[in-house]
Amino acid sequence: LRRGSGPGDLAGRRVVVSAGGTREPIDPVRFIGNRSSGRQGYALAVTALARGAEVVLVSANTALPDPAGAAVRRVGSTAELRDAMHEESGAADAVVMAAAVADFRPATTTPGKIKKTGGAPAPIALVENPDILLELTRGRAHDGQVVVGFAAETDHVVENGRAKLARKGCDLLVVNQVGDGLAFGTADNQAVVLGADGSSTDIPTGPKEDLADRVWDLVAERLS
Ligand code: CTP
Ligand code: CA
Repeated sequence: LRRGSGPGDLAGRRVVVSAGGTREPIDPVRFIGNRSSGRQGYALAVTALARGAEVVLVSANTALPDPAGAAVRRVGSTAELRDAMHEESGAADAVVMAAAVADFRPATTTPGKIKKTGGAPAPIALVENPDILLELTRGRAHDGQVVVGFAAETDHVVENGRAKLARKGCDLLVVNQVGDGLAFGTADNQAVVLGADGSSTDIPTGPKEDLADRVWDLVAERLS
């Protein structure tokens, strides 16, 4: 089933994978977060290691054991993830943004714990976070660096995915259908991988490791 893949086809390649979901602090004990488990990103790291790659895994708020052989950097907020991705991507042949990044963060983090006052609670003002994937594609370290994004869509999956691929400027966009218990926190994943070259690859429902291997097949084809 695994076409073109094999032990060693990523030997000598350095890949950077982000996994998990970022958390934006509201006060010292509270945050805005999301339900990403990090399992797809970890599956990408494990399969890349099995294929011989040198792997940096930037892990945001996951509860998963470090994959043996990966260099793991743990981050919390989007700002921390962004700094780590910019530091690590410079020397990378491929960068995969599998992390679920918070689109917005509180405009300010309250230094002390917010207390009830008896009145109406103060609203939390939000500001938009920087788009890390867009920054990575605009600042590609070298021609030939392959940049991969992930997208979770609830409807019009392919149309939304095509538009997102173009907007982000990535080489490949892995589009998952989410909602109704699909994808987040589950062992299995199903996706269509859209390429900047117009290609479209359907990946049937299966373990996240299988999807990861198919993504690396498509990355390997683009590395030269
Ligand atoms: N992403 C990122 N930085 C952000 C938001 C998203 O790097 N601030 C990356 C994600 O890691 C993913 C890709 O962009 O690889 C697509 O994320 P998605 O949330 O689907 O796209 P958005 O541009 O945030 O659009 P939407 O409004 O649909 O959430
Ligand atoms: Ca988003």
